[in-house]
Amino acid sequence: MVNDEGRDHLAPWLPWATSINDVEETRRWLKQFAEEQAKDRGRMYGIWLDGVLVGGVLFQVFRARSGICEVGAWLAPEAEGRGLVTAAVRRMVDWAFQERGMARVEWRTEPTNLRSIAVAKRLGMTREGVLRDVFRFQDGRRDLEVWSLLASEYRGQGPEQGR
Ligand SMILES: CC(C)(COP(=O)(O)OP(=O)(O)OC[C@H]1O[C@@H](n2cnc3c(N)ncnc32)[C@H](O)[C@@H]1OP(=O)(O)O)[C@@H](O)C(=O)NCCC(=O)NCCS
Repeated sequence: MVNDEGRDHLAPWLPWATSINDVEETRRWLKQFAEEQAKDRGRMYGIWLDGVLVGGVLFQVFRARSGICEVGAWLAPEAEGRGLVTAAVRRMVDWAFQERGMARVEWRTEPTNLRSIAVAKRLGMTREGVLRDVFRFQDGRRDLEVWSLLASEYRGQGPEQGR
């Protein structure tokens, strides 16, 4: 899915959009997630639209014993604006809370990434604050906002909320 147009679209927000640019690197990256999934410490899923891979969602962090996980997502530009990521992340949130008994799901985003912040809001997440210079990027370090949804809040809104 990361053709040149997709790469330009993701590059402002995701360092791997420009650092992973051949088959070997891509394979290594996907293998890392397969290994994380085998250890139950992370997962990645594709988002498919009419049979075409147009994006992905992942548990960047998944710590079952401490009950904490972090979700992330990306889409090709032509797949934005259809609610695909909100629906996919909502499914992951349902699974994390209902089937895995997680205590909190996090979403981290740059303060200027308004589409990403809109996803967190749509999911009923709360903005907790800013981690300064926490995100290492090709051009330096960046701040990240932390948004989260707690199990107690999720029980309040129920899995059908917002659908
Ligand atoms: C962040 C990103 C995944 C958000 O994509 P998105 O398409 O805006 O988010 P969703 O898939 O949830 O779609 C929401 C949009 O679909 C619309 N929509 C249509 N049907 C919908 C439905 N059933 N449910 C929710 N939204 C729906 C919403 O109104 C919204 O459109 P709008 O922003 O024009 O109002 C995308 O912009 C992206 O990949 N950005 C680059 C990478 C990136 O920043 N990743 C996140 C790093 S933290």
